[in-house]
Amino acid sequence: MSAQPREFLSVTDNRTGKVYELPIADGCIKALDLRQIKVSADDFGLMTYDPAYMNTASCKSRITFIDGDKGILRYRGYPIDQLAEKSRYLEVAYLILNGELPNQAQYDVWADEITHHTMVHENVKDLMAGFRYDAHPMGMLVSTIGALSTFYPEAKHVHDPVIRQKQVFRLIAKIPTLAAFAYRHSQGLPYVYPENHLSYAGNFLHMMFKIGDYKVNPILERAMDVLFTLHADHEQNCSTSAMRAIGSSAVDPYSAAAGAVGALYGPLHGGANEAVLRMLAEIGSKDKIPAFLKEVKESGGDVKLMGFGHRVYKNYDPRAKIIKELADQVFEVTGRNRLLDIALELEKIALSDEYFLKRKLYPNVDFYSGLIYQAMKFPVDMYPVLFAIGRMSGWLAQWQEMVEDKDQKITRPRQVYLGEGERTFVPMNARK
Ligand code: SDX
Repeated sequence: MSAQPREFLSVTDNRTGKVYELPIADGCIKALDLRQIKVSADDFGLMTYDPAYMNTASCKSRITFIDGDKGILRYRGYPIDQLAEKSRYLEVAYLILNGELPNQAQYDVWADEITHHTMVHENVKDLMAGFRYDAHPMGMLVSTIGALSTFYPEAKHVHDPVIRQKQVFRLIAKIPTLAAFAYRHSQGLPYVYPENHLSYAGNFLHMMFKIGDYKVNPILERAMDVLFTLHADHEQNCSTSAMRAIGSSAVDPYSAAAGAVGALYGPLHGGANEAVLRMLAEIGSKDKIPAFLKEVKESGGDVKLMGFGHRVYKNYDPRAKIIKELADQVFEVTGRNRLLDIALELEKIALSDEYFLKRKLYPNVDFYSGLIYQAMKFPVDMYPVLFAIGRMSGWLAQWQEMVEDKDQKITRPRQVYLGEGERTFVPMNARK
């Protein structure tokens, strides 16, 4: 019988000559196991220093699996390309939140619950009216999602599964309504209320664009639904980590989701899709691409090729591939977006350039999505809002998993203190 694999690290602290055995489980060592490594009895013990958590698992999760080197993305084990092609967003949201694809009866109840929670309290309209006409819709979304916590005070009971479930229905159902209201506010248009006979994506497009005899185009409706699926979850990204960290204080999910929307708003995260369109428009034509890429390479990281690169994917983002295919279907209806030609040429040149290849920078989910959104007549500042609509189900699934995880406590990292040692207060008249 071969000896059991030795699933531990033997660590020698050369300061003391002591040897420690650190158990390895799930490909990790527990950071807390390092605290026993001390040079004296009153020594705090070793910590890990990991800014931006580049190599730190913050949780155990069963929701989404990503293999960055192979460009793999699966929700609860199902490959993203199969879900994008064969499923629909509400079904994927059920899968992400409940761990299994719903049968017909489960789906019908789920879809019915969400359909009947799409309205928001009329006071929300008054809140929206307080924003300037040119307020960024992500700023409006952060505020109105957070404000929903004041309409549903029972949401504070985060350990009650029945109450939790109701907030999940409400947040998935209401975020498209808040998003559409923010857009209508910015256009000075009357709000369009939810229509229960429409699909999730169809209802959103209807609330967004309904003027006169507007009819939702089924191809655009399907494209919107697939885009919500592609954005639904992505393991411990910045905004999901924010959702978990804020939720770990046992605050209600509306307040946690407001923080997640805030994190997504950043141009390095969900705001990238908006930044890609602005970048393509600024480049303006294919002949200006070499000069732009030269500027990126010489900027020392200040000027980025937006929509490229990823913390995890060191290969093509599988979502970018699907979105690129989806673009052709949308352009059949809307007409081809001329910026696509610049994007395709940019990708072609960048993927043959040593600077990007050496850094394993490939198109990510945000590189092509904005081209579809623009063709569908969404204003650029709505793009991160569209990302947030799809990601709401992922944020809620991750929040729920955190609430139920016995390993989890309130998030409170340590620090490496490099500041002043103790010193005595100096009165004003004695200061230099
Ligand atoms: C999303 O985490 C997720 O899962 C996020 C997301 C999700 O679904 O939730 O996938 C959604 O946020 C996608 C990413 C959208 N962001 C962008 O497209 C913005 C442009 N990309 C970069 O800012 C960057 O690639 C990040 C933020 C996405 C990742 O940054 P990392 O992992 O911190 O990498 P890094 O900044 O350390 O870069 C490594 C090197 C650096 O160069 P050197 O210092 O080694 O010389 O690559 C360079 C960077 O300067 N680099 C880029 C670049 N991205 C990284 N150079 C030019 N253009 C870029 N886009």
